[in-house]
Amino acid sequence: MFQYTCLNPISHVGLDLLTDDYKKTDDINAAEAVLVRSASMHEMDLPENLTAVARAGAGVNNIPLDKCAEQGIVVFNTPGANANGVKELVIAGMLFAARDIRGGMEWVLSEEGNADIAKLAEKQKKNFAGTELSGKKLGVIGLGAIGVKVANTATHLGMEVLGYDPYISVNAAWNLSRGVKHVQDVTEIYKECDYITVHVPLMDSTKKMISKEAIAMMKPTAVVLNFARDLLVDEEAMVEALKEKKVRKYVSDFPNPTTVGKEGTIVTPHIGASTEESEDNCAVMAVNEIMDFLENGNITHS
Ligand code: MLT
Repeated sequence: MFQYTCLNPISHVGLDLLTDDYKKTDDINAAEAVLVRSASMHEMDLPENLTAVARAGAGVNNIPLDKCAEQGIVVFNTPGANANGVKELVIAGMLFAARDIRGGMEWVLSEEGNADIAKLAEKQKKNFAGTELSGKKLGVIGLGAIGVKVANTATHLGMEVLGYDPYISVNAAWNLSRGVKHVQDVTEIYKECDYITVHVPLMDSTKKMISKEAIAMMKPTAVVLNFARDLLVDEEAMVEALKEKKVRKYVSDFPNPTTVGKEGTIVTPHIGASTEESEDNCAVMAVNEIMDFLENGNITHS
């Protein structure tokens, strides 16, 4: 039987994930295993008896991997467990870029909208006209659990989809729907696509991979989406390109002073995985990984 300490209950299922509040308690120092969502563990003294860390999510950049490796601590993540939640927000991001949903909603709530809503609304149709996703080209960079789901769903919306992944696994290739074209050269995506979405982990080699040079290759109508990790996009270059109308929109799930409120940006507060279902799936998968490791010594998704 395991004991666990409630540091801050944020998961839908009531499992308790480590948050920045760990600093306020000594209980963590006795832990053999830690479950963490978004809090950074980089500054933390790792508990003496710690043998496992499970990240309730895909990315592990909030975990000191080198320090864990040195101390023989196994690190797990929960690949795919929140893929539906993230995928659905990516699709919503594309729709928000294609249609002026926010502008229309704000107008309806405005004084003018309230005055004689039905009559005035007729006149607004032109102001809030948008474009359709159907028939547009989407480029998906990174074909892991989330990228594959985005790619497949987009084909059902009538989009033409190009997928790029230099490390594509047999599994990912197998899971790609027949409508997705797997390209070998990422510049094909930069040059040709109307929507470009990035789904890769943050590593030295992927930092600012959507660089000034990559942005310069894009069409002036291009929409770039980042629901994967902060720092994958050169945001200074992106904001500049938006200002000069060299790209159309930047949709990001990472609120930064560089982008928030800037022309052509649509920013959400890192809520891709914040659905009841995704939180349940991540928490359950992480707990199962830890239990299987502590009880049976099995290591999955490390
Ligand atoms: C992930 O890496 O999957 C997300 O960051 C999960 C989260 O939002 O906690």
